Amino acid sequence: MDSPKTMAAHYNDTVVRQFSILSVVVGVVGMLVGVIIAAQLAWPELNFGIPWLSYGRLRPLHTNAVIFGFGGSALFATSYYVVQRTCQVRLFAGPLAAFTFWGWVLVIASAVVSLPMGYTQGKEYAELEWPIDILITLVWVSYAIVFFGTIGVRKVKHIYVANWFFGAFILAVALLHVVNAAAIPAGFMKSYSAYAGVQDAMVQWWYGHNAVGFFLTAGFLGMMYYFIPKQAGRPVYSYRLSIVHFWALIFTYMWAGPHHLHYTALPDWTQSVGMVFSLILLAPSWGGMINGIMTLSGAWHKLRDDPILRFLIVSLSFYGMSTFEGPMMSIKTVNALSHYTDWTVGHVHSGALGWVGLISMGSLYYLVPRLFGKDKMHSIKAIELHFWMATIGIVLYIAAMWIAGVMQGLMWRAINPDGTLTYTFVESVKATYPFYVIRVAGGLLYLGGMLVMAWNVWMTVLSGKKADAPIPLISAAAA
Ligand code: HEM
Ligand code: HEM
Repeated sequence: MDSPKTMAAHYNDTVVRQFSILSVVVGVVGMLVGVIIAAQLAWPELNFGIPWLSYGRLRPLHTNAVIFGFGGSALFATSYYVVQRTCQVRLFAGPLAAFTFWGWVLVIASAVVSLPMGYTQGKEYAELEWPIDILITLVWVSYAIVFFGTIGVRKVKHIYVANWFFGAFILAVALLHVVNAAAIPAGFMKSYSAYAGVQDAMVQWWYGHNAVGFFLTAGFLGMMYYFIPKQAGRPVYSYRLSIVHFWALIFTYMWAGPHHLHYTALPDWTQSVGMVFSLILLAPSWGGMINGIMTLSGAWHKLRDDPILRFLIVSLSFYGMSTFEGPMMSIKTVNALSHYTDWTVGHVHSGALGWVGLISMGSLYYLVPRLFGKDKMHSIKAIELHFWMATIGIVLYIAAMWIAGVMQGLMWRAINPDGTLTYTFVESVKATYPFYVIRVAGGLLYLGGMLVMAWNVWMTVLSGKKADAPIPLISAAAA
């Protein structure tokens, strides 16, 4: 077998480096827009009367930038890195891999221009208009060819579990995108959905929930199964559990979409199916979380002085928290209280900031020095600072939204003895104001942490010390 050094020379890390940097840059921009819209909810005049800066246009810019720009680029980077190391071959179809990067940059740039201009299909997380959707399809098919092609020419017989999760994420997102984006064009940047009425809503939330399950979860579980064992220097706690985890998770997620449409025109039995599968989903989600956390068995002490490991493990605590909360919110009677309130937004961000954000940041801190031939990140103290800014920011954000959400739900349903409403809607808006201000503070902290990361990555690339020892290449578990 080739030595680690010659193997390293074989790998295509250019595209991994590009996507890693893109993730950090778009992360900063997307979170900045998040802070701006959070501030607009507290102080609406911050749109300055300019249509481009209106809340309705910036909100989808925020969600698209953080999910697809920040999270998506981190997924491209890590999947390309992991598949090469665990298969011990160079990426299949190098030029196509380069196309996925430049194509993705173009998708992000198109979103940055078209969303503030008001072009939208009006479907949440699928707002981009049809010409951009076609570009996304081309990039995604190329991604699938590169990823599965690399698996196809692998030199290691076994396909390591991280690749199963990355593979499921790539296949499912292709299916979701093509089905949900089906539309009849009615001019350049204008189209009508191929579906109508309640079918349209069901297809949208089949897409929306599986975007959570596959874009915001499965791919990041791929990261978990590679980077936690690597950073902890321990094999995966239970490889058998990881296989059960995989099949149970991908089977169950597909059925849970209707929990987004409780008490709507969707047939009642469909809503119940969504609720039941959401409750079942707790088991595989927690199985996976436990597998990740227990990988630290015998190495718990490392948490004390390794901030990168702390990012990775604390992300799993948030994953556990949001995958407990989600099934509870899917129970119809609970959803009757939580739906339309900021409780949902709190749930979203405990998953998004806590799970997706922290695991991506931990993985990128692991990757960056290795990708740029440095022995470690420029400043470990800065990683420590980032960890605390992010964690305190998340707690402020989600605690404020939980309190605001439950309060709104209770105020809206409060009834006087004579049957009239106790509170007007505007009274609930007024009562929410302090919590919106707390969210802005939490968001500023989280964004500040991301800026510290951007500085640290910049300094590492420019000035970090060269690594003299070859960097270990194969996952502890796969070796
Ligand atoms: C600085 C950090 C962030 C801040 C201040 C922030 C703020 C916000 C705000 C104010 C909203 C609109 C809520 C509403 O309409 O009532 C929102 C929505 C959303 N954000 Fe963020 N966000 C941040 C980071 C992120 C990240 C990193 C992700 C994903 C990885 C994310 C995903 C989402 C999603 C999915 C929604 C839509 C939620 C829904 O429809 O219920 N956010 N965010
Ligand atoms: C077992 C896992 C989970 C279940 C069963 C679940 C369930 C739910 C439920 C019931 C809602 C509220 C729907 C509504 O009232 O409109 C919701 C909203 C949401 N959840 Fe989860 N959740 C889970 C995990 C996660 C995770 C890990 C994330 C993020 C990484 C996440 C992101 C979201 C988003 C973005 C929404 C808002 C969708 C929207 O209205 O725009 N969920 N989830």
